[in-house]
Amino acid sequence: MYGLVNLAVEDLVRRQFGDEVWARIKAHAGVTAPEFNRMQTYADSVTYQLVGAASAELGAPAADILRTFGRHWITYARDHGYAHIFKLAGRDLKQFVRNLDNMHTRLGATFPDMDAPSFSVEDNADGSFDVHYYSSRPGLQPFVVGLLEGLALEFDCEAAVSIRDSRASGADHDVFTVAVSPLVGR
Ligand code: HEM
Repeated sequence: MYGLVNLAVEDLVRRQFGDEVWARIKAHAGVTAPEFNRMQTYADSVTYQLVGAASAELGAPAADILRTFGRHWITYARDHGYAHIFKLAGRDLKQFVRNLDNMHTRLGATFPDMDAPSFSVEDNADGSFDVHYYSSRPGLQPFVVGLLEGLALEFDCEAAVSIRDSRASGADHDVFTVAVSPLVGR
């Protein structure tokens, strides 16, 4: 994945736990390069190793780290040059998710080697909606949960995300049910 993703992991760890913990996680993951380059592609294994090392060093399940990372990715992307995308891509969470494939396609102009995921949306009778997530990469389901939660906050809403179907239990892709409610007191 592009270095931008690893830089966002680094930013999360440094902010929450400090430079020393980041140095330990990096060493644990076997990363020797002094810094990540935003536009360079790295083997996916680098990102997975960082998450695994963070899990070991912080004593937290990898799924929790991925979910927190998903939430962080939204603010990181917004604060690192992609704020315009959030303004353009939708007036609410559902519309934004419907536009995600277009958004990643447009980002392909900047990140030509990107292997982007794909999303589609289906309405449910009770007002919630299902998000279908297709990826060539395994194990990122909790990351998407965090992304959807973080994205909802951009629209002053809270998203309750539940797993409807999962590759881990044999389905060919992951499906989430998302129920959105307005954030009170903000
Ligand atoms: C402006 C914000 C965003 C930018 C700049 C961005 C860019 C990227 C980049 C560069 C990658 C790495 C792909 C690669 O190197 O092959 C990526 C992956 C990914 N993006 Fe986005 N993205 C953004 C927003 C989102 C949002 C809002 C979601 C979902 C709600 C999302 C879902 C994902 C997922 C799940 C991956 C992991 C790859 C996979 O599943 O196979 N992204 N994105």
